[in-house]
Amino acid sequence: MGETTIGLLHPGEMGAAVGKCLAGAGHRVLWVPAGRGAATRERAGAAGLTGVTFGEMVTRSEVIVSVCPPHAARDVARQVAGFGGLYLDANAISPATAGEVAAIVAAGGAGYADGGIIGPPPVAPGTTRLYLSGPRAAEVQALFAGTFVDARVVPPPGSASAVKMAYASWTKGWAALLLAARALARAEGVEPALLEEWVISQPGLEKRWDGADRSAAAKGWRWTGEMEEIAAAMAAAGLPSGFHQAAASMYRRYEQGPSRSDR
Ligand SMILES: NC(=O)c1ccc[n+]([C@@H]2O[C@H](COP(=O)([O-])OP(=O)(O)OC[C@H]3O[C@@H](n4cnc5c(N)ncnc54)[C@H](OP(=O)(O)O)[C@@H]3O)[C@@H](O)[C@H]2O)c1
Repeated sequence: MGETTIGLLHPGEMGAAVGKCLAGAGHRVLWVPAGRGAATRERAGAAGLTGVTFGEMVTRSEVIVSVCPPHAARDVARQVAGFGGLYLDANAISPATAGEVAAIVAAGGAGYADGGIIGPPPVAPGTTRLYLSGPRAAEVQALFAGTFVDARVVPPPGSASAVKMAYASWTKGWAALLLAARALARAEGVEPALLEEWVISQPGLEKRWDGADRSAAAKGWRWTGEMEEIAAAMAAAGLPSGFHQAAASMYRRYEQGPSRSDR
């Protein structure tokens, strides 16, 4: 594809950075301010994206990219009914949910590519991969040529989501387990003893707990949905789903905003 008009739903922390990469590659990137909050508006402005109505975005876009909280992926796909271009879902969802999103957009008349993003928002080279799958994956890959987004094709439909699920099952799974371990010690009144034991036999673990706690406080609300998607992916593959159901429960404690001493 040459210069392409791309609709972006929505310019969150990740979406805005992805949109800025696409705009920097010469594409026209549209977004929809209606219904979004101040932080999203600020990010979209800073990224140089063009605000339009939902109808305009659907009519003008050749490609629509969905980068939103995982629990919203299906609803966002339903909103683009009538769109006849190529729809990329780049969310942290299971291969089965990706299949549902594909069916939703196909029923509405669009083509579909599955995506999964690994790494921080792409503001420098070499940090962030966008895995892509399905028959139209190469078309999306071409949009990112020369940008900070390293777009990689894993051909079979749903594989990009599978890579994201397998990867995040570990990165966010161990963090939830570590949070649970310290919470247990706190509940039993032995937190100081556990921390001393960590210093002796698990050096660096308290620092890793700090990082896990900070990240969960900032993003735990979104990770609950992601853990549920991972649990579903595990179950569909005949693997235990309990790890990530429990991880979702840990992150839900942050979603409800408990004080640090309660979680
Ligand atoms: N951030 C990262 O480092 C990272 C890394 C890898 C993958 N990802 C993936 O990128 C996706 C988005 O993450 P993010 O960090 O960009 O999230 P984010 O910063 O929380 O942004 C989410 C965006 O979606 C909008 N949104 C919130 N609730 C919504 C809903 N119910 N329906 C539709 N839109 C909604 C938000 O708009 P308002 O808040 O203005 O309503 C915001 O613009 C996720 O699937 C995540 O797994 C992120």
